[in-house]
Amino acid sequence: MNPHQTLPVEETGTTPAAIAHSDEAALLNLLDDIERRHGFVPRELAEQLTKSIEVRLERLRRLQGRLHSTVRRDIEEHLERWKDEEGNLIMVLHAIQNQHGYIPREVAMELSRGFGVKLARIYEVITFYHYFKLQPPGQHNVVVCNGTACYLKGAADLINEARTRLGVGEGQTTADRKYHFDVVRCIGCCGMSPAVVLDGKTHGRVKSSDLGGLIEGLARKEAKP
Ligand code: FES
Repeated sequence: MNPHQTLPVEETGTTPAAIAHSDEAALLNLLDDIERRHGFVPRELAEQLTKSIEVRLERLRRLQGRLHSTVRRDIEEHLERWKDEEGNLIMVLHAIQNQHGYIPREVAMELSRGFGVKLARIYEVITFYHYFKLQPPGQHNVVVCNGTACYLKGAADLINEARTRLGVGEGQTTADRKYHFDVVRCIGCCGMSPAVVLDGKTHGRVKSSDLGGLIEGLARKEAKP
């Protein structure tokens, strides 16, 4: 087929409105599909798709630019505040974590530039201290204790139950950012092991068969007016 041939857009099985409402992944799939069906991508359609992708990319660039300048201003303020103090990297990381609930990747990169240290060093510090998180926190926190006392009383079953219920591993947040799941070592309530902490509230002698209900209770509480 002649690649310069013009094919009415409707004949390709798509319309300008469909293009306008598709996301990038759908647009790329559409391109593949049309090429498979017709052996080429009609010029008019290619132009519409390109325009649509460019508009989205421009919007994305503007958003990233805004985010970047806000993050940079925050970092500069923290660097200025802590620059002459000992252990300033940790102090700035604490400030960022308190502010955002985690250490965003762009922040780690800005800190690397600001302190003049390798990015690997920043990540070394972040991952050494359990307190720092690399992912945005969930709306609800599910923490299972796996200290010795809890381990001996069946913490492994609770961990498995939480993993299955939430569909994420320890230290991860569900895709909808609703739940964050963590496993920790001893929360100081060994007398009531195995223990879990749900949104800051400690529950003792928890059975794995009860954990699902407790987790669902967090969302139910939120649904109440
Ligand atoms: S080991 Fe779990 S509370 Fe101490």
